[in-house]
Amino acid sequence: MLPKERILNVPVYKPGKPIDDVKRELGLTEVIKLASNENPYGYSPVVKEAMLAAMNDLAIYPDGGSMQLRWELAEFLNVQPEQLIFGNGSDEIVLMISRAYLEKGTNSVMATPTFSQYRSNVTVEGADLLEIPLKNGVHDLEAMLAAINEQTRVVWVCNPNNPSGTMNTSDELLAFLEKVPANVLVVLDEAYYEYVVDENYPQTIPLLDKYKNMIILRTFSKIYGLAALRIGYGIANPEVVSHLNHVRGPFNTGSLSQVAARAAISDQEFVTQCSQKNRQQMKRITDKCDELGLHYFPSQTNFVLLEVKRDSDEAFQYLLKKGIITRSGNALGHPGYLRVTIGNSEQNDKLLAALESLVTEAAKK
Ligand SMILES: Cc1ncc(COP(=O)(O)O)c(C=O)c1O
Repeated sequence: MLPKERILNVPVYKPGKPIDDVKRELGLTEVIKLASNENPYGYSPVVKEAMLAAMNDLAIYPDGGSMQLRWELAEFLNVQPEQLIFGNGSDEIVLMISRAYLEKGTNSVMATPTFSQYRSNVTVEGADLLEIPLKNGVHDLEAMLAAINEQTRVVWVCNPNNPSGTMNTSDELLAFLEKVPANVLVVLDEAYYEYVVDENYPQTIPLLDKYKNMIILRTFSKIYGLAALRIGYGIANPEVVSHLNHVRGPFNTGSLSQVAARAAISDQEFVTQCSQKNRQQMKRITDKCDELGLHYFPSQTNFVLLEVKRDSDEAFQYLLKKGIITRSGNALGHPGYLRVTIGNSEQNDKLLAALESLVTEAAKK
């Protein structure tokens, strides 16, 4: 068989290690996963009720247009229903954007390191990658702007960025959007939007009226705690949504996912509580880093990229043996660092103790 040659250059996505694998491999009974930026507080109880009530309808295909969810989310976000597109996770919207706008002879601008799926999908489409290094962990929007040329079709701005957790301010983004050519699509990936507390973070939905060449990506996988259900969405001008609909699969989001997402947005109290707890637990981790003299990037998300003062893979293995799954910075373009999801209080007790012993042992060597 002869696959497209270029797909062989696309690395198969390596997810955070599953808990059961680690338990089996290391003979541990208690393992915590702080590797994939999931919500340690689970999901709202109203989601479960709504899903159980919807269990009878599984023989019927889902509503391909996600109409009920579309209306309710449009009202919640104060946008028009035609401005929304839903995906099997926001991952699938990244795929649809790449499919709709990129091909051989075009290029796409992104930061490095950033969320790996942009690179993978651009490569699958045969477009060239123009990767611009982060500056102090933040997107260098001026350099990204300077990289845009006649062949550029899509620019990816992950804000806040994964894996650094850092954000670009409203002023920076506005200055950038003002200069991006109108025929270049700017993707603003806001997967961690609900976690952001910085006042200078851009509120991008109102900008859609002025900048028609924008799409905002958000997800139910992070603060809403529904990563297993795979549902995310894009907010854009109807023209962009209509382009994406040409490449969208017929029933790309499941009925239960749609029901769960509707219930999830109805419980904003849960979202607020998770965000507050996240900040409290983040502070415990960054305080410990300060105490141990470890550098970290200021994060507006539910994870933090922190220095480990030894090889990242070694630090990853050290924590793994203590039953804590994190992400090695080597795999994320940040050698010498680990990316750690902000867990709950109990999980962080374990993490902080393990971090402390990791650093003290390294110092003794
Ligand atoms: C920046 C960013 N965008 C998108 C995604 C994908 O999320 P989803 O679960 O909605 O596909 C992630 C997941 O980690 C992410 O970090």
